[in-house]
Amino acid sequence: MKNTVVVGAQFGDEGKAKITDLLAENADFITRFQGGSNAGHTVVANGKKFAFHLVPSGILYENKTCMIGAGCVIKPDDLKNEIEGIISLGITREHFEKYLKISPLAHITMKYHTDTDGYSENILGKNKIGTTKKGIGPTYTDKYARMGIRAEDLFDKKNLEEKLDVILPKKNKELEFVYNLKPYTKEEILEECEEYRKILAPYIDFNWQENLLNYKNNKSILFEGAQGVMLDIDYGTYPYVTSSNPIAGGAGVGASMGPITIDRAIGVFKAYMTRVGEGAFVTELTDKTGEALREIGGEYGVTTGRPRRCGWFDAISAKYSVLVGGLSEAALTKLDVLDKFEEIKVAIGYKNKKTGEIITNYPTNPKTHYDYEPVYEVHKGWLQDISNCKKYDELPQNAKKYLARLEELLGIKITIISVGADREQTIFV
Ligand code: GDP
Ligand code: IMO
Ligand code: MG
Repeated sequence: MKNTVVVGAQFGDEGKAKITDLLAENADFITRFQGGSNAGHTVVANGKKFAFHLVPSGILYENKTCMIGAGCVIKPDDLKNEIEGIISLGITREHFEKYLKISPLAHITMKYHTDTDGYSENILGKNKIGTTKKGIGPTYTDKYARMGIRAEDLFDKKNLEEKLDVILPKKNKELEFVYNLKPYTKEEILEECEEYRKILAPYIDFNWQENLLNYKNNKSILFEGAQGVMLDIDYGTYPYVTSSNPIAGGAGVGASMGPITIDRAIGVFKAYMTRVGEGAFVTELTDKTGEALREIGGEYGVTTGRPRRCGWFDAISAKYSVLVGGLSEAALTKLDVLDKFEEIKVAIGYKNKKTGEIITNYPTNPKTHYDYEPVYEVHKGWLQDISNCKKYDELPQNAKKYLARLEELLGIKITIISVGADREQTIFV
């Protein structure tokens, strides 16, 4: 298999994990390159439903090495719960200890990060981002402020203590005077770090340089993204975004192997769209049709249980996503969810509600999105169950027409079509 990166191409939850899991079969090494346990990835395999947050879904196979890369942030107690959850479904602890690796360079989410994420969201009131409150933003903030704790620091007590002498007085000022929260003693932080050291110890890969070189030179690699292009810190609907780079370019940085290791970038699009949390969403449907998409598509968050906002496919943001996401081909998921819709709409323009002007280039300032309404193209539904289709030719004519039009609008080929959550419910074109 050519080295491939799988990227969410909308607002996250596109079904990336299903696609990653499928492609992992032909990869030797699967590496997650950004984000943390804000992600919620569901894989249905062998009749069981697995919930992933940070562990690459390749772990379900017998002999694939899976790495949580340098670009990720780790909340060790969440990781522990995630691993225990997967173990309870039949994957052994020995398997995890053999195949799961953690980059020593990944940053650690401390309790104070989670405290400040929750607090910031509460004080922002109606301007809140709608984060997962996992501490992701504050962990990345500290990383870039050069006051983060990395996984490797947990294993070097002397260095950690010296680091804390610099970080903690600053952090405590922030906690007390900005957030009105309880400061931490050095002993409390050292205790927390010791707890985290024990959780990460079986997985931390201090031999990562040699191992990655071997994978880079001799094996096939799958890069697993979280979130989606429209939640990217640089290219998404800023500031209603996550704090990392889900775009394919993020893989070059976060997986420690650079951009020219990657041969293909698959963008995963849902056949319609969803969003969790706040922020503009031009094709959002707040009516019965939106509710129908949510109920049929089971659109509730894996991490927070929040109902996902639903709407029609937006070809304006999708085309932008192909460009800035660096996508070379597309996977289209949840096509089966549209089985019962007589009409299926696709936004092919944004119309200014005041002036009537129609634009077809994506406006990067999301505040302006509220000035626009979608210009829809209406497609006839196929009104039949496609969840058992195994080949492209078995799809109804109207479904083929819908796919062909999306391909045309995206400007890249749809090479994978998903018609159900199961591994088997996939059409490779
Ligand atoms: P991710 O975060 O991008 O990996 O996506 P999530 O796992 O959060 O959400 C996708 C949901 O849709 C999961 O519950 C999947 O099991 C499910 N799913 C994935 N592909 C399909 C599909 O083609 N059809 C249907 N009906 N469900 C799907
Ligand atoms: P997967 O990988 C959907 C959203 C949050 C919020 C914004 C910022 O399953 O696609 P954060 O906690 O990251 O600071 O929240 O990003 N968000 C996601 N939405 N899927 C995800 O991950 C998400 N991860 C974060 O809802 O709007
Ligand atoms: Mg998800």
